[in-house]
Amino acid sequence: MKPIRTQVAIVGAGPAGLMLSQLLQLEGIDSIVLERQSRHETESALKAGVLEQGTVDLLNEIGAGERMMKEGQRQESIVLRVEGHDVRIDLAALTGGGAVRSYAQRDVIKDLLRLRWAKGGDIRFNANVVNIRDYDTRLPKIRYRDRQDEVHEIHCDFIAGSDGTRGVCRRSVPAGVMKSVEQLYPYAWFGILYKAPRLSHELIYAAHTRGFALVSTQSRDLQRLFFQCSPTERIEDWSDDRIWSELRTRLAPADDWLPEQPQIIDRTVVGMRSLVVEPMQYGRLFLAGDAAHVVPPTGAKGLNLAAADARLLARALTRHYRDGRDDLLEAYSSTALRRVRRMAGFAGWMTSLLHRAPDSDDQDYRRQLTALRSRLGEPELAAMLADHYVGRAES
Ligand code: PHB
Repeated sequence: MKPIRTQVAIVGAGPAGLMLSQLLQLEGIDSIVLERQSRHETESALKAGVLEQGTVDLLNEIGAGERMMKEGQRQESIVLRVEGHDVRIDLAALTGGGAVRSYAQRDVIKDLLRLRWAKGGDIRFNANVVNIRDYDTRLPKIRYRDRQDEVHEIHCDFIAGSDGTRGVCRRSVPAGVMKSVEQLYPYAWFGILYKAPRLSHELIYAAHTRGFALVSTQSRDLQRLFFQCSPTERIEDWSDDRIWSELRTRLAPADDWLPEQPQIIDRTVVGMRSLVVEPMQYGRLFLAGDAAHVVPPTGAKGLNLAAADARLLARALTRHYRDGRDDLLEAYSSTALRRVRRMAGFAGWMTSLLHRAPDSDDQDYRRQLTALRSRLGEPELAAMLADHYVGRAES
């Protein structure tokens, strides 16, 4: 078996891996991206699409932003609806011009893939990584099996593990080297996707005695709604009527918000947890994105944290190749974790603020919601929320 040589082997063609490979190419550093899933599966991920300004800038800088700027929508505010009473968080006013852009993650992936191919990028789908080795030496190696069951070996200078929560990279690291702090939440999200124009120009985060609900969007004509459910909720227990009725109740009193019951085209139960791995590096293996950290979805931070990791890692690798200096590589984990911790804290805070603990008492919870409404009127709290939401908050 003749080994394949590249500078940086990237495991996982999600946002972190694809952004990294594009950033590296712009600096003249070559990479190979290995992806376990098929191209079709890779392009179909249904995930939040709320892009912070920094993520929008990154996509534009690397040449992947054209469609996002056309089809995505700038969002200058969000709504927190507490038992039917709306509190508008004016992101732009509170952050001095900050905003987010709604653009689906799968469109980000499609745009990045198209760009990588146009630039001759080497992306290998259906590539099952068998093992990664020798990343504590100067010649790390990856062995993978292709769709025809043929085994290949890549020799590289560095491995970027952007292969998600359950990826092989983190699991390959000897026990005790990386410490993970995990938190499970006692609730989950029931999510639906349906075809219709947007319900609302703003994302609506609703807290209700029956539990949290969210009005989101996927694209101009595909919409997403979520409601808090149990982690063991069974999709088959929910008829369309029951789903719509639950959503109407939690998003009331504006019950004219849904003029009809569109057909639901996808339903999922999304578990909620938080996981932060430290350090995010070992030898010449560097983790990025979900492989290193998972945050609950409430603040829509996952993709943005992946983009921030990709930028940091690309910068550090560029310094290595261009200046022969490893200071940024050595600092990668501690630098990345500052943002991760801040945003994980925010996502956890926003999650507990808006969700109802399963064991809470009706009356207590009602009182909590009343308190929440008045707290959201406090300028400092609104400003803190807005800063984190647009990704601006400094520690
Ligand atoms: C989503 O559309 O999946 C979504 C949007 C906003 C969030 C979380 C998830 O805060």
